[in-house]
Amino acid sequence: MNTHTAIFDHWIRTEFVTLNSELEQLYWQQTDKANVEGIGEALKQQLEKEGNALISNLLAEGNTDQGFDSAFDLLGNVGLFMAACRRHEITEPSRETTSPLIEASALAMHIGASIGVTPRFATAHLTTHNKALNGIYKRFTNLPDEKLFLDYNTQGILAYKRASDALLKILPLGISHPLCGELLKLAKQALIDVIGSNNALYSELDTDRFFNCVRPYYKPYRVGKEVYRGANAGDFAGINVIDMLLGLCSANEPSYSQMLVDKFLYMMPEDQQILREAMRMQSFMDDFLQAEQYKNTDWFKSHATLFIQVCKLHGDTAVGHHNQLVEKFIAQPSKNMQQQHMSKVTASGPPLHVLLDSLEKLRDRRASAKRDDIKTRFDDLNTLKKWVK
Ligand code: HEM
Repeated sequence: MNTHTAIFDHWIRTEFVTLNSELEQLYWQQTDKANVEGIGEALKQQLEKEGNALISNLLAEGNTDQGFDSAFDLLGNVGLFMAACRRHEITEPSRETTSPLIEASALAMHIGASIGVTPRFATAHLTTHNKALNGIYKRFTNLPDEKLFLDYNTQGILAYKRASDALLKILPLGISHPLCGELLKLAKQALIDVIGSNNALYSELDTDRFFNCVRPYYKPYRVGKEVYRGANAGDFAGINVIDMLLGLCSANEPSYSQMLVDKFLYMMPEDQQILREAMRMQSFMDDFLQAEQYKNTDWFKSHATLFIQVCKLHGDTAVGHHNQLVEKFIAQPSKNMQQQHMSKVTASGPPLHVLLDSLEKLRDRRASAKRDDIKTRFDDLNTLKKWVK
């Protein structure tokens, strides 16, 4: 790490966290906890001034190629600064047509375009690619609620990735290979781990703290002229690899492919590559259905049974995400929020009911629910269940 990069990284890990935490404390003391206007103005100015000064030095330095990892890491630091400015309404995308953080925008666009990712901080910066120093990784605040949220997000993502890795390994072997069953068992365990970690998050996270002091850092913000949607825990390839390899969701279905197209640049380049490949593969669901002639063999019965169990567990993770996490931590508190703040609730921007409707459809595809308005694998899974009885 060169000197300017190291100084900025140190600031992000220390002073930046202190300033955000002090501001959170001031907001939290109000009756209307969602208000940030006119509160802690001196702290906000200090945050903006110090961040801008450090970023100016980096911008003046130009492109000093230190490799992908350090470029991605620096983009994350610039992004955390820009997201905090958005949270404290130092910037506000609906108030402006271009980001007032001119230097930060320039640096973020330079790095983002050169490494093939969106020019804002992404989920990976805070979860899977967040280097801890002496046990402490990068965060916005020193609130235990934020740490708890990030720890469980990272656990959930890592577990989904384990499931997706196991399923990808079946591709070159085929569903009748003797080791297909072992890989399906690994996928099952990984999905059980997702459920376990999401259940723990559900019961341990404090709703008010999350909604008022953690979630606001994940709002959309402007970089240069464009508004980039907020980061969410789903911005990695694994979840969609599982959807498509199992055959529960399909890349040629318009709303699903729209989601994939929108999320590509929010993922690490290696994840983008994996997702592209998964979009071209035939699903295991179709493989099993096409292997009807073998339905009375031992391998078919045992592998198809495990496959059905994996599908069920994947559906359960989606049901838990929607009916527990989204419901408790977003939908419910939004209902209690003062109307003037409502337009700012979701990370991705669309009105809450639109977002909830699309998440609900996604849940039902993953759960193979019986629905007449969208295509799910309800009937196909029932066929497989009959064959293995
Ligand atoms: C997307 C809420 C934790 C996986 C979303 C979205 C919301 C949400 C509202 C829609 C995107 C947006 O707002 O822009 C929550 C809440 C959580 C939580 C309130 C906990 C407090 C997690 C965890 C995981 C996860 C731990 C597991 C890795 C996903 C995925 C998506 C997503 C995969 C993308 C859409 C999809 O493919 O389902 N989440 N989430 N979320 N979240 Fe979460």
